[in-house]
Amino acid sequence: MSYYSGTISVPWVPTRDELLEYIVRIARLKPSDVFYDLGCGDGRVVIRAVKEGIKKGVCVEINSSLIERAREAAEREGVLDRIVFMNEDFFRVPLSEATVVYMYLLTSVNRALRPKLETELRDGTRVITLDFEIPGWKPVQVVEIALPTRMAKLFLYIKGISDR
Ligand SMILES: C[S@@+](CC[C@H](N)C(=O)[O-])C[C@H]1O[C@@H](n2cnc3c(N)ncnc32)[C@H](O)[C@@H]1O
Repeated sequence: MSYYSGTISVPWVPTRDELLEYIVRIARLKPSDVFYDLGCGDGRVVIRAVKEGIKKGVCVEINSSLIERAREAAEREGVLDRIVFMNEDFFRVPLSEATVVYMYLLTSVNRALRPKLETELRDGTRVITLDFEIPGWKPVQVVEIALPTRMAKLFLYIKGISDR
């Protein structure tokens, strides 16, 4: 099922498990981090981040059955109490608490989110996108990973550097 971000639909396509290790590495997670996944699907990325020992994960997902799945997965993995689940449109969620933001969306949605990221994120916040860039922002690192069927690309942006 697809959900509309403004006028743009983003289907649920989960981040492949092989990429989770690369994501936590590029994010350089530390214990004080608050990790947001905007459109968190079944929660796999946030769950993995929280298992690295960060302060908190925030799973924002518009699809109520997916957020329920994410909650169940977090319970199975023993990290339910360290993740906040928001069944909400990410355009309506305040982002100022985030120190790391993950987005596996579309270039057009990243473009639409950009003003919100620029207004609400604090300088130093790391923003990681999979496969789709944030138009107009300069990545500080790009990692290409060979998957069995395709090449995946992770982009690391830092608020205060990438958006200037
Ligand atoms: C490509 S999937 C990525 C899922 C997850 N982040 C991952 O990497 O496994 C995009 C997700 O964004 C969700 N989504 C789309 N528009 C949304 C919106 N406006 N607010 C919150 N979630 C949204 C979809 O339901 C879908 O689960």
